[in-house]
Amino acid sequence: MLIAQLSDPHVRPEGMLYQGVVDSNAQFTAAIAHVNGFDPPPDLVLLSGDLVDEGTDDEYATMARLLAPLKAPVLAIPGNHDDREAFRRAFAGLSWLPEAGPVDYVADRGAVRIVALDVTLPGLHHGAMSEAGAAWLDGVLAAEPHRPTMIMMHQPPFDTGVPYLDLYSCRDGHRLAEVVARHPQVERIVCGHVHRFMQVRFGGTMLCTAPSTTTAIALRLRPEAKPASHVEPPALLLHHWQAGVGLITHFVPIGTFPGPYPFA
Ligand SMILES: [Fe+2]
Repeated sequence: MLIAQLSDPHVRPEGMLYQGVVDSNAQFTAAIAHVNGFDPPPDLVLLSGDLVDEGTDDEYATMARLLAPLKAPVLAIPGNHDDREAFRRAFAGLSWLPEAGPVDYVADRGAVRIVALDVTLPGLHHGAMSEAGAAWLDGVLAAEPHRPTMIMMHQPPFDTGVPYLDLYSCRDGHRLAEVVARHPQVERIVCGHVHRFMQVRFGGTMLCTAPSTTTAIALRLRPEAKPASHVEPPALLLHHWQAGVGLITHFVPIGTFPGPYPFA
């Protein structure tokens, strides 16, 4: 099973740039073309939040239009830049979408079970692992203890060491760690939000964050560091389930590059 993960495209209304600088729509289009070009094709595409920048219906209409050429089925969660109800309208009619409340759901579509965990708090940039959310997750994981499982969420539940990111993490991450530690079938937790690739051990499993298709948040590790971002090469993650091995996560720069050249 092949699962592509695109994150934080921050789609804008047609003709508008992200933060007045970056054509996030063109970069999302390039990301989708890159995913469509994979051979073998992915079975699923995950969108791990911040699909749009300001949460307007206009942006979601553009997002839907840009997403239309994607050949693989999509599973999405909102991020802090999404508007949960506008997000719900944008994906109305899809089988995985809950009708109300947090966008929590389970998708059983192949070797790897996907659990979408909505830790966003409408109107706020940080997230939180609520007691109710943790109890829901515990029940969902207990129901299928032998299925390899991936949890998708937006804000990461750990301190990254980048000070301006850690103001807006998923708080009360210990609740998530305690649940995950009880369910060793959780192969990976995947997040968005930080616009960088990171990996860390969490709750006894592996957690990784996805790069954005649009911009990279600056890698600054001093406590007094000021927030900034760069237009680094955009990238996506490709999670490859190999029976007998596990879940292999590839970091994949988006674009076309010189080559192929001889291997040896
Ligand atoms: Fe974002």
